[in-house]
Amino acid sequence: MRFDIKEIVAREYEGNVIFLYGNEVADRVLPLGKKELEYLKMRREGDANAIVVFDRLPYKLYVVNFDSEKPSSESQETLRRSADKVAGMLRGERQKETALTGEGVIPEEVAAFMEGLFLADYSFDRYKNEKPGHLEHVYVEQKFLSGEELARSVNLWECIEQCRNWVNTPVMDLNAERFADELRETAKGRGVGCTVFDKKKIQALRMGGLLAVNQGSVDEPRFVVLEYKPEQPVDDRPLALVGKGVMYDTGGLNIKPDNYMQEMKSDMAGAATMASVVFAAAANKLPVHLVAFLPLTDSRPGFNAYAADDVLRMYDGTTVEVINTDAEGRLILADAIAYAVDKYDPSLIIDAATLTGAAVRAIGTYGIAAMQQDAENALNLLRIVGNQVYERIVEFPFWKEYDELIKSEVADIKNCGIAQAGTITAGKFLAHFAKKCPYIHFDIAGVAYFSKKQEYYAQGASGYGIRLLYAFLQTCDILKKCVNV
Ligand code: BES
Ligand code: ZN
Ligand code: ZN
Repeated sequence: MRFDIKEIVAREYEGNVIFLYGNEVADRVLPLGKKELEYLKMRREGDANAIVVFDRLPYKLYVVNFDSEKPSSESQETLRRSADKVAGMLRGERQKETALTGEGVIPEEVAAFMEGLFLADYSFDRYKNEKPGHLEHVYVEQKFLSGEELARSVNLWECIEQCRNWVNTPVMDLNAERFADELRETAKGRGVGCTVFDKKKIQALRMGGLLAVNQGSVDEPRFVVLEYKPEQPVDDRPLALVGKGVMYDTGGLNIKPDNYMQEMKSDMAGAATMASVVFAAAANKLPVHLVAFLPLTDSRPGFNAYAADDVLRMYDGTTVEVINTDAEGRLILADAIAYAVDKYDPSLIIDAATLTGAAVRAIGTYGIAAMQQDAENALNLLRIVGNQVYERIVEFPFWKEYDELIKSEVADIKNCGIAQAGTITAGKFLAHFAKKCPYIHFDIAGVAYFSKKQEYYAQGASGYGIRLLYAFLQTCDILKKCVNV
């Protein structure tokens, strides 16, 4: 989808027009007669967010109502959702072009509507012989944004699109090696450094978690480090972003039963998310030094697959008793977190991982289960920006009692606790490897991949979390205060 800035006069425009109706001043600029305006008012009184369509053969006028009195973050989400509906209507009519303007609407709200259009227009077409139609061109009224602002938004949205494509691609076409190659290619010419460790290097580094999970697979593991360092970063220490990159999660020898295996191509969404955040920050030259650590492997029951009862020695020397091979994500993340702490001394670590089914059972598909250790301020800031961009987080407790649940009889810790509080014990396992470094854990199992369409997200990968983390990085001057106090 392409956006272009243009002067748009709704009364004269020859083409489809989407009109964001924020207040009644709009009545003066809409190309509508008295009766039509009365009808519009009636519809608005029935539903403050009504989308009212006027046929202006051969074009259409889509009047999108919204309550501009509401806090802007709320109207922004309403507008994203309305954008999805209008995008559906345009697609239904095989329309490829539209103009976008409005009255009584602020630039952030117009941007949110554009964002909704962009996100809603996404579909994963790679394997379709007949490609579905897309909205190709949107002309946006010039008074709402500059070319520079538009370019920055589009950079972010394109990174989200790329993330979704990676996550939607099945393992047969995107294994660890190929994903690492793609990341290296993507990093080129974008001001992002990319280092890829192969199996030999991973062995030399003694990343026992990543190697164990990989043991049952024909495909080699990879460990990817992406680094974006701006000229004048706000902080002299980097922010570490760690992402779970299980290219496919069969469960390993504790194989996933029934249809629990389905959709497990999405188990690398954390890695795709964090890579995309780095690429977005670099594209828009945000003044934050970022390093992403992405452990990549699939988890299979073949060959000399690791087994329950095995005891692993992790990168930092911690020994781990394997209780269940399906709790594999934390094993590869542990090595990545420990490596980040050891080599980069980050001011803060954030990880994103499709880590536990328990997170989905606890909060469903409406947000991220978040936990923190020594990073209360940063998590509070994330909560605030998350509410603003409507990628929300809810904090789970990290009380010391949970530490007891992962103590092991034979090793330092074990990779599973009891049946209860599974999301938290998984987080606690990871927090062990962050040591004294401020640490935030995002369990994105509920939101990374939707089994069916949810608002402006088509079935499949969502890219959820990228807008949140990007918005967080935009507040990096505050962030600096957060991590240093
Ligand atoms: N990748 C799964 C978690 C998951 C489940 C993500 C559903 C998205 C949707 C993870 O590796 C896993 O299998 N976790 C186990 C942990 C258990 C064995 C302690 C789980 O949640 O059942
Ligand atoms: Zn698993
Ligand atoms: Zn997994």
